[in-house]
Amino acid sequence: MDLVGRCRELAALSEEAGALTRPFASPAMAAANALVAEWMEHAGMETRSDAAGNLIGHLPGSDLGAGVLLLGSHLDTVRDAGAFDGALGVVVAIACAERLRAEEITLPFALDVYGFADEEGLRYGAAYLGSRAVAGAFDPGLFALADADGIHLRDALTAFGGDPVAIASAARPDAIGYLEVHMEQGPVLERAGVPVGVVTAIAGQTRAEVTFTGEAGHAGTVPMAARRDAACALAEFVLAVEAEGRREPGLVATVGRLSALPGAPNAVPGEARGSLDARHPDDAVRAAAAAALLDRATAIGVRRQVGVRWEPRMDAPGVAMDPRLTAVLAGAAPGAPHLPSGAGHDAVALAGAMPVGMLFVRCAGGVSHTPAEAVDAADADASLDVLFRAVCALAAP
Ligand code: GLV
Ligand code: MN
Ligand code: MN
Repeated sequence: MDLVGRCRELAALSEEAGALTRPFASPAMAAANALVAEWMEHAGMETRSDAAGNLIGHLPGSDLGAGVLLLGSHLDTVRDAGAFDGALGVVVAIACAERLRAEEITLPFALDVYGFADEEGLRYGAAYLGSRAVAGAFDPGLFALADADGIHLRDALTAFGGDPVAIASAARPDAIGYLEVHMEQGPVLERAGVPVGVVTAIAGQTRAEVTFTGEAGHAGTVPMAARRDAACALAEFVLAVEAEGRREPGLVATVGRLSALPGAPNAVPGEARGSLDARHPDDAVRAAAAAALLDRATAIGVRRQVGVRWEPRMDAPGVAMDPRLTAVLAGAAPGAPHLPSGAGHDAVALAGAMPVGMLFVRCAGGVSHTPAEAVDAADADASLDVLFRAVCALAAP
């Protein structure tokens, strides 16, 4: 099984020519789901999509009462993404199911391989839309969110073939656990010279959209002293975010998306929007940083006489991996280091509903969320061996 080749094949399915951008419920995601469904069927799985737009491949177990073990990762991407973030975990999970079949191993529990519909939150700013539904924790208030084109989540999901009214049906109370393989997205494994590592915990994450509203005007005629330039307010806020992130060890804070309207070189911006993403392993530190940044945004607005709108999009606590699943992964990967994750994963949302465990795979230079992402074929194969051994170990009496 050419795991890296499959990730590269998936990377061609994009909303943007020459770059990989595959947002939630997009035509590119429909194409990715169709291709992955073919691979799942070839591996002997029955496929379906759920009400949240997640793709699922099912391999039955021998004991209907033994529940279902979930495997997988996400099929959405960031803008101008690399080929492995998400895709790797899906193709490794399919290969695991295929190997079970090839070796004529029937597990007592069933396996459901998920291609989650939204881990990144690119389109709606709120991440884990697919896995929140699987955890039975999808807040229906999210359906009112609008994307950059004003399309509401409710309508996007419906057009994609999902079912907002039946979103609760995506929940999996029958799940006995979730195991995910994911590229590390950092340098620890490469520096240690090892192919895989066992994840201990995932840092919490706050996301918000911040909008400053001033007054648009002519760039050649409105005197500087008379301006209420929204982009200048946003620029101050971006630097405040950087300063806050540097204030506390372990804290990271980012404004990754900025826009200004009307967006003409010769117009004073009347509105400027920025995204905030703040993370720390300790939830209290993250909450304090988010509160401080809200205060800063408010103060900037008062001083510059511009309006400030702060829209919370996500407040995901840090989560620890399940001790038993972690021990099973560690047993299947003797000598592998244990490490925390600064990146978010679907396991965060699922942890509220079932035991979760994760395995990281070494990546070149520790880089991710760029087209430069790279994973060695041998490392991907090593992660498959570990996942296969872990799944078999879970089936052992
Ligand atoms: C997902 O990759 C995230 O950590 O935001
Ligand atoms: Mn990512
Ligand atoms: Mn990811």
